[in-house]
Amino acid sequence: MEPQVRPGEKGASEMVVVLDFGSQYAQLIVRRVREQHVYSVLLPHDAPEEEVMALSPVGIILSGGPASVYDPGAPQLPDYVLRGGLPVLGICYGMQLLARALGGEVLPSERREYGPAELYINDLESPLWEGMPFSLPVWMSHGDAIAGLPPGFQALASTDNSPVAAMGDPARRIYGVQFHPEVVHTPLGKDIIRNFLYSVCGCIGAWTPESFIASTVRAIRERVGDGRVMGALSGGVDSTVAATLVRQAVGDRLTCVFVDHGMLREGEAETNVRQFREHLRLNVIAVDASERFMSALKGVTDPEEKRRIIGAMFIRVFEDCRGEVFGPQDTAEPGEHRPKASPAFLLQGTLDPDVIESTTKDTKSAARIKTHHNVGGLPSDIQFRLVEPLKFLFKDEVREVGLALGLPPELVYKQPFPGPGLAVRIIGEVTPERVQMVARADAIVREEIAAAGLDREVWQYFAVLTPVRSVGVMGDGRTYLNTVAVRAVTSQDGMTADWARLPYPVLARISNRIVNEVPGVNRVVYDISSKPPATIEWE
Ligand code: XMP
Repeated sequence: MEPQVRPGEKGASEMVVVLDFGSQYAQLIVRRVREQHVYSVLLPHDAPEEEVMALSPVGIILSGGPASVYDPGAPQLPDYVLRGGLPVLGICYGMQLLARALGGEVLPSERREYGPAELYINDLESPLWEGMPFSLPVWMSHGDAIAGLPPGFQALASTDNSPVAAMGDPARRIYGVQFHPEVVHTPLGKDIIRNFLYSVCGCIGAWTPESFIASTVRAIRERVGDGRVMGALSGGVDSTVAATLVRQAVGDRLTCVFVDHGMLREGEAETNVRQFREHLRLNVIAVDASERFMSALKGVTDPEEKRRIIGAMFIRVFEDCRGEVFGPQDTAEPGEHRPKASPAFLLQGTLDPDVIESTTKDTKSAARIKTHHNVGGLPSDIQFRLVEPLKFLFKDEVREVGLALGLPPELVYKQPFPGPGLAVRIIGEVTPERVQMVARADAIVREEIAAAGLDREVWQYFAVLTPVRSVGVMGDGRTYLNTVAVRAVTSQDGMTADWARLPYPVLARISNRIVNEVPGVNRVVYDISSKPPATIEWE
């Protein structure tokens, strides 16, 4: 697969690269930067210099990391970071790397400092501290500390345990902070990051939904040329925003395919197709492939196997629509003389968290968690070139882009729904009967959450059909039926989540209605796990 154009690469003048030294907060730093309207990407600490410099960053942020700079094999500061004369901010381990590379002294501190601390600022004139009070709460998490400043540096702040909790060399625009400005436990952290971006790097905040739309539309036009695009449309906010962007870029050369795999929510297939055609004015081919999917899933219970089968089947169904989208010449047999086909592209609405959780390419520290069907599940013999305009965005950013594109708010704020659909909410074998059960239970959860006015507050809410059967009593008789789990979570980007504290009366109504209205269910439980350690979906 060819590399994709990152939205910031063309058109957006400001880009800050975050180098990942293995911190659990590395991705958060990227988010904090983007929240300040400066485009940012996370790259591994050992990314080749050319790859980093090709992005023309206006500044570099070094993340924290679990190592000590003295550990054998500890990740090193790449030479180009200091050679280029760019502004640099080192956070925690990143600061220690800077101190060491520039001739300072880093030593294991007597006491590991972990948790909240009060930061006392020495020099309120520093651009890093613009608008800061004399002291502020910060979040610490480090073992090593700066024992000697590098030449040219001043200590900019201290805590009770760290005489050098921040340092800076204003002439070279190099700064280091021992604490974590990116976490919510440093309440003024976002302002410190903003100071680095605006007062040190000289950013103007050019990255907005509107600038993203303009540069992405341009990048899509360049990539697609005179080709045609087949858009995989699910009805969710991601693929709809992606399709709207591509439509703006290439007009009628986009044809969308909506696949009903038989594992959608109640009423969804019809509503989606109507919305695509009537409101969004997209060309849509609607395919009912439910029987194909259902027979491919017969007897399959392993979650990853289900995901792989569904991912592969999606592509096969799309391939079957090729002729209709790209014209008959595209399906010419080898050796047959027909006019040269226009390049064929497949549009996908893949997002940042999908990429992070499905691969280890974009961040070295994240291991594969699930094969999201739209990322890792693609067969290797895929015949399309991909267009993934949202690949480097987080969900909340996609929503902002959706609003800026003028999409209706009810679509923009629709809760996420996984590509493999209800299949990953049925533990065990997927059968039409079990799909019907979970779909009915899901509809009840959705109705009650909406009736309580909680649909915007709660990130996702749904029912899971478990294979657990238990004894119950209905009327005067014994039952031995299925258990449905209700899951409702709050989240900002799907990367972490907490279970929603739904009001008891809402839970009571959901439970009562599910046992009364869904045949085969006699027990309802509420899932009170956060992510991590659980994930949002059960499979
Ligand atoms: P997990 O279950 O990994 O889910 O915590 C994180 C978010 O991603 C959604 N999800 C998917 N989205 N294709 C998608 O487009 C998939 O295969 C997929 N699996 C999970 C999930 O609903 C949640 O919002």
